[in-house]
Amino acid sequence: MGDVIRGGRWNRWNGEHVVALEATLQAFTGAKRAVAVSSGTAALEVALKAAGVRPGDEVIVPAYTFVATATAALQVGAVPVFADVLLETHNLDPGSFEAQITERTRAVIPVHTSGLPCDMEAILAIARRHGLLVIEDACQAIGGVWNGRRAGTIGDAGCYSFQASKTLPSGEGGALVTDDDVLADKAFGRMHIGRKPGGAFYTHYILGWNYRLTEMQAALLLSQFRRFPELQRRRVTNAAFLRDELARIPGIVPVREDAYVTEHGLYGYLGRFLSGQFAPGLGLTRATLLRALQAEGIPCRVFYDHPLYQNPLFLEAHEAMKDDCPFACGHPAAQAADYGKVSLPNTERLCATESLYFPQPLLLGTRRDMQDIVDAFAKLRAHAAHLV
Ligand SMILES: Cc1ncc(COP(=O)(O)O)c(C=O)c1O
Repeated sequence: MGDVIRGGRWNRWNGEHVVALEATLQAFTGAKRAVAVSSGTAALEVALKAAGVRPGDEVIVPAYTFVATATAALQVGAVPVFADVLLETHNLDPGSFEAQITERTRAVIPVHTSGLPCDMEAILAIARRHGLLVIEDACQAIGGVWNGRRAGTIGDAGCYSFQASKTLPSGEGGALVTDDDVLADKAFGRMHIGRKPGGAFYTHYILGWNYRLTEMQAALLLSQFRRFPELQRRRVTNAAFLRDELARIPGIVPVREDAYVTEHGLYGYLGRFLSGQFAPGLGLTRATLLRALQAEGIPCRVFYDHPLYQNPLFLEAHEAMKDDCPFACGHPAAQAADYGKVSLPNTERLCATESLYFPQPLLLGTRRDMQDIVDAFAKLRAHAAHLV
């Protein structure tokens, strides 16, 4: 990193680190091509554009996710349509996804929430049946593996984030991966103001933006890659301990890892709090439990505290985006959008009362730290009557 700064070659066209990072990502994920970009948000936008999502198309996204999953669709003039998630995994419910498909649907963005791989077999089968693109939001899931394949390499393209909180961080940064050379070349142009790979500096072929990753970020990521396996092993070991031990406590339900989950990516660890089983008849709320856990020194918290569609951006979409396509462009999909009417019960239940989240730094602790977490839950359950 110091060498990059002192060397003065800070940009991808005169340095070698961004290109080396793309090669490392290809080797790590097994994808044929990787394109480094400035953020996970940029990766999603570039992937949708390069895959052929057009203004006025509909793109199905889970409601339990970070805003960028949906705003990436808006950035390319498409309309996000929300689908529900499964309570047991917090991931896209294939049935709800299929129920949202219309003649305007062009793509789906499954999110590997907190790093846990989605049910990609079911999602791909539905998508292929309806001729839809599958752009994986693997921004939390660089460490996730589905049926032996890296999260992000299963659909038409996959997107990663290297933002500061992620398991492979460089402050900001992102990348997309794909096996499709045409998609990859288009993505390269969108990222690099319309240039072609290997093309002349002042020759521009398509409409593109400047979404380049810097050499400093790439150098940092290359060194992070060297630490990643050891840190991921620690997260996996600790999460397995938490999963087994917390599952013994009535009313605490760790996320279900289906047979296709070869490895949980562990951006964090999610579970559910079922008050009626944890403290029968007491009406103990999640907020009270979390306050008590904080007092015990356990930084367990809520992940998303409201469904994405309950943000003002969506509730007041026609006003909030009146100057932005697709809302300003008269597309029927935008005219039909009425996010105030969306109600997805599992997402609402997880956000309002059930979901519990252990952020990934906590999974880097010692076995003793993990035992403290389990002991705190057991203690609070034993004294639940005093909490309410
Ligand atoms: C699910 C998901 N999608 C997209 C993003 C966007 O990534 P970035 O912050 O790098 O733009 C994030 C980042 O938090 C995310 O969690």
